[in-house]
Amino acid sequence: MEARTTEVLAHSRYGPPGDVLAWEEWALPDPGPGEVLVGLLAAAVHPSDLGMIGGQYARLRDLPAVGGREGVGEVLLRGEGVDSAWEGAVVRLPDDLGAWRQRAVVPVDELELLPPDLDPGQLALAGINPPTALCLLREFVDLHPGEWIVQNAGNSGVGLALIQLARAQGLRTVSLVRREELREPLRALGADEVLLDHPEAAEEIREIAGDAPPRLALNSVGGDSLRPLLRSLATGGTLVTFGGMSGEKVRFPTRELIFHDLRLRGFWLDLWKRTRGADAFAALLAETYGALRVDRLRLPVEAVYPLRDYRQALAHNARGRLGKILFTDGGGL
Ligand SMILES: NC(=O)c1ccc[n+]([C@@H]2O[C@H](COP(=O)([O-])OP(=O)(O)OC[C@H]3O[C@@H](n4cnc5c(N)ncnc54)[C@H](OP(=O)(O)O)[C@@H]3O)[C@@H](O)[C@H]2O)c1
Repeated sequence: MEARTTEVLAHSRYGPPGDVLAWEEWALPDPGPGEVLVGLLAAAVHPSDLGMIGGQYARLRDLPAVGGREGVGEVLLRGEGVDSAWEGAVVRLPDDLGAWRQRAVVPVDELELLPPDLDPGQLALAGINPPTALCLLREFVDLHPGEWIVQNAGNSGVGLALIQLARAQGLRTVSLVRREELREPLRALGADEVLLDHPEAAEEIREIAGDAPPRLALNSVGGDSLRPLLRSLATGGTLVTFGGMSGEKVRFPTRELIFHDLRLRGFWLDLWKRTRGADAFAALLAETYGALRVDRLRLPVEAVYPLRDYRQALAHNARGRLGKILFTDGGGL
């Protein structure tokens, strides 16, 4: 029998993904005791994937590495001692493995068994952004139903999850976006207000919120996009930065800090997981799957590409989107 292989999207140095990623064929052993062979069903493209490949992210992989943090697959073959319940199961690949691959051999104790009734594409988007949105809504300010919160990059994966999860908790959202045409689709997902992101948007936000300005602002952009967030916050309010899409600094004006007692915080899900532990994270995932199941959460997909078309996929990812780019293309056996 021919030796089994897998095609992978790998890199041997850190750098711009378009320069360093290559479509390669790697050897794959048969699953050993306690292991299974998994075929990819769907994998996400996230900014942190690109940061890891680029060498800028806080946590990097040893090289050579396969790209991608979030992917789900189907168990195709069981090694010795693996319970038959795993046959055909849908599983989440371990974060460190590299999800942009057709197949992988993985110890079962590193796999999360996923609900079989949910769409694999949705599950491939469920493990990072919705739990982040849930943490942002809970970890910083004790919010009450009816309160306004404000965020930039409202059409990002996190932003879209946040809009829906906030609504499910009775919270109201103002989302800043960079394109007029995003207003209606975001409203259709449950956004209360969608505004263009510009330095004077604070006045519009204050007008919307009236005498109850937001106590929580969420920033994943940086630079000028902070201004409307900071200027619309209530005295004593908190701005949480969890991303830096513009690549520009987070400048926190002395004036706001002193005269409005504003608080600047940061959030990183990886650190949260490490400090809170696996059970707390599993609870966030269970809550996410529950919301998907009852249609309280939908994770929009902009386009699906086979892994080998990664150049088109990454070019598409870099354009304005409403939803995520997914890779598919499991190799089967
Ligand atoms: N700290 C954590 O634990 C954590 C967890 C998850 C995500 N994140 C971070 O959250 C951010 C969003 O992630 P995601 O997966 O939701 O992203 P995504 O779905 O890929 O969306 C990217 C968003 O960034 C906006 N954007 C891109 N370039 C920009 C620029 N130069 N200036 C302003 N906005 C820009 C896009 O707007 P346009 O459509 O207008 O381009 C879009 O809204 C990333 O920084 C990511 O690393 C952090």
